[in-house]
Amino acid sequence: MIKPSVYVTRDIGSEAITLLKNHCDVTIWNKPVPVTRDELIKNVAGKDALLCLLTDKIDSEVLNAAGTNLKIIATMSVGFDHLDVKEIKKRNIKVGYTPNVLTDATAELTVALLLATSRRLLEGSEEARTGGWKAWSPFWMCGPTLSHSTVGIVGFGRIGQQVAQRLKSFNIKNLLYTGHSEKKEGLEIGAKFVSLDELLRESDFVIATCALTPETANMFNDLSFKKMKPSAVFVNTSRGGVVDQDALIRALKEKTIWAAGLDVTTPEPLSTDSELFNLKNCVVLPHIASATIETRNTMAMLSVKNILSGLRNKQMPSELII
Ligand code: DGY
Repeated sequence: MIKPSVYVTRDIGSEAITLLKNHCDVTIWNKPVPVTRDELIKNVAGKDALLCLLTDKIDSEVLNAAGTNLKIIATMSVGFDHLDVKEIKKRNIKVGYTPNVLTDATAELTVALLLATSRRLLEGSEEARTGGWKAWSPFWMCGPTLSHSTVGIVGFGRIGQQVAQRLKSFNIKNLLYTGHSEKKEGLEIGAKFVSLDELLRESDFVIATCALTPETANMFNDLSFKKMKPSAVFVNTSRGGVVDQDALIRALKEKTIWAAGLDVTTPEPLSTDSELFNLKNCVVLPHIASATIETRNTMAMLSVKNILSGLRNKQMPSELII
């Protein structure tokens, strides 16, 4: 019997690849960098399924190159802003993604990044390493306190809610959130639904965990940073595209806000000559929020299971309804 053919755009680990190979004819882009556009277009041609990552832009050009055999796309990510869902839907292709399994890891990293930024962990470590640590000093390396503060979460989905749960144990005073509508989970967690303006005005810490959509693109811009407190810490673990990065650089330089912690940027990777790297009040991480060994393996396995179920015309464990 002929096995269905699948193109995989990166090495996603031996467990997941072995499972996929047991049932499919698999071609893999095995280099540790994203597949080039030309390679993707060449290799996706005639395939029944595509397992891709958030680094691969799947648009009409790729879909046309794939042709009518392509029935399943599984992305090893919860975010799907790299997929042209309109074009995918037009072609009746089913999409699998990986929600839930990365929620805990991402929430953990968000809290870690918040504290690393507010308590200046990287800056302090660098001072200690390079001789800047002269003596214990009353106000050296100080930052804002999380306890008794007001935290605002923009995008109160699975990840935002888990960030909120974790932050409660830090004895914060108020938990605010904003989004499309009030959520019952807000009541359960003890978070108050407010407008974006109120959240920006009132929060000591503003955390972005929303998806990147046309509506959220550049929502953190000059105007939003001006609405925040000068003492505010901004944390972004969603997508770089929700921030007008030039506006953020201005806000950090002019001290419109106090500091920013970014796990995501535009572009990715961020060029090493980006001004963000020269700002002491900015912590930049290389998009590692979900990067625990267990989580990444689970994401890979779920992506393969999405492909296998989809190819068998069965309900995918995690289908993205588009
Ligand atoms: C996602 O899955 O969308 C995250 O950004 C990376 O795990």
